[in-house]
Amino acid sequence: MKIRVLGSAAGGGFPQWNCNCRNCSGVRSGTIRTSSRTQSSIVVGGNTAHEFVLVNASPDILSQLKSFEQLQPARQIRDTALKSIVLVDGQIDHTTGLFMLREARAPWPIWCTPAVHRDLTDGNPILKVLDHYCGIEWNPVDLSDAWFEVKGAEGVRWKAFNLSSKPAPFSPNRAKPIPGDNIGLFLEDQSTHRKLFYAPGLGGVDDKVWEYMRAADCVLVDGTFWAEDEMLALGLSSKFARDMGHLPQSGAGGMIEWLDRLPSSTRKVLIHINNSNPILDEDSTQRADLRDHGIEVAYDGMEIEP
Ligand code: MLT
Ligand code: MN
Ligand code: ZN
Repeated sequence: MKIRVLGSAAGGGFPQWNCNCRNCSGVRSGTIRTSSRTQSSIVVGGNTAHEFVLVNASPDILSQLKSFEQLQPARQIRDTALKSIVLVDGQIDHTTGLFMLREARAPWPIWCTPAVHRDLTDGNPILKVLDHYCGIEWNPVDLSDAWFEVKGAEGVRWKAFNLSSKPAPFSPNRAKPIPGDNIGLFLEDQSTHRKLFYAPGLGGVDDKVWEYMRAADCVLVDGTFWAEDEMLALGLSSKFARDMGHLPQSGAGGMIEWLDRLPSSTRKVLIHINNSNPILDEDSTQRADLRDHGIEVAYDGMEIEP
């Protein structure tokens, strides 16, 4: 099983088009040590060449596809290595890239929960719009702990589990989240038995989530915010991190505390980093803190073989 990070930033990307926070202006002017990042997406490859599963379709998908040449094997006049698409939520940063994939020559196999399918047919009817182009073939993701297999990642089996987080603002469930609004994924390579935990939007760690985190060889997990009040302190929003469905890294009960409790052999990588997060500055004290805890920060183009 091979993971390639296509986009490691949260919604908005890094730098965000209208943002002049220290990080965004620093990356534009080259005055901080960092690298720009596109919005949240990974691909998963199994043991068949030229085949991948896209997990989340970001608005930056076209530049992401260009950045990884294996995704265009060029075997025929129209071609792609992407075989199916898995969505962990219905948010803009994880779904609007679907529009850019409308020229597919067959309906896209899309794996998502009934809650996300409804958000993408009612709240933001992307899937209905796609019916006028390539169409989709929906594979409902259930949260029953059953393994499933996804075309494009041969030899990998998948499980999905509910996360406490938040559906998109246009979701009818925004105020009262329901199971399946946000999921995490647990992937196992069936020959090496190596396992990956993937949850780019995680608001809290419950028993089930903890069980999967502990069982994984690599956790690729929500790195959106450093601090609970990060957006308020910068004057960017009136919302706390947890209100937005993201567990911050610092503080009591924060992500660093959880990751510290994992076995030392577990690889720990933060992904879905918001442009406001000080860990993007490789010279920040917060980034040094992560290094002390053995926690890595994902970047676009990062490859992981759990
Ligand atoms: C989130 O995960 O909270 C989203 O990235 C927000 C957004 O896309 O606006
Ligand atoms: Mn997001
Ligand atoms: Zn910014």
